[in-house]
Amino acid sequence: MERASLSTFKIAVLSSGNSRGSNLAAMAKYFAENRSSVSIAAAVFTVKNSPAIDVANMLGLHVEIISAKNMSYFETQLIRICEQQSISLIALAGFMKLLSEQFISSVAVPILNIHPALLPKYGGAGMYGMAVHEAVWKAGGQFSGATVHLVDSSYDTGKILAQKTVDVSECTSATEIGKRVLQAEHALYAPTIVNYLCSSPK
Ligand code: GRF
Repeated sequence: MERASLSTFKIAVLSSGNSRGSNLAAMAKYFAENRSSVSIAAAVFTVKNSPAIDVANMLGLHVEIISAKNMSYFETQLIRICEQQSISLIALAGFMKLLSEQFISSVAVPILNIHPALLPKYGGAGMYGMAVHEAVWKAGGQFSGATVHLVDSSYDTGKILAQKTVDVSECTSATEIGKRVLQAEHALYAPTIVNYLCSSPK
């Protein structure tokens, strides 16, 4: 029997501000439908009125709300959750805050992020949400897409793990590009997490 099938990996999903929770929902669906060895043990939010909290509650997930006004406090609480829940991986989904180098090394689990463009293009500070799709629209290129990458202490610079390209040549607005890219994000994130966890040396 393969080692991966014996393991259960618990992950924490982090969102800040007013995230929609669509990646959270897509992940939960994928893990359930594929009888995956990965499950979401904690959904962590930074504000109590995030729409994604409703998504997490509907999915029956364990929800934690931790203010990120003081990042040192946030990171300490996150380490507590990771230890309490035996978390193997943190997945950022609409989490716009920078995590410190000290946190990244102390938490000692991989941290992944999904970005709505083909990094290294259209990444960096200020490149999130519609700003990304507006920039792609203005540049008029044929392709955009989604990128899953490891998180370091800068915006969007960690090692790229997977990308999904989207042909946006027939899109008539930045909003339409965003919608198409979001579908690609939903298809890409969960399988990348599963592959990463199940193929990493333990
Ligand atoms: C996604 O577009 C993701 O790429 C970015 O933040 C957005 C989160 O959307 N990092 P949702 O909350 O998952 O719907």
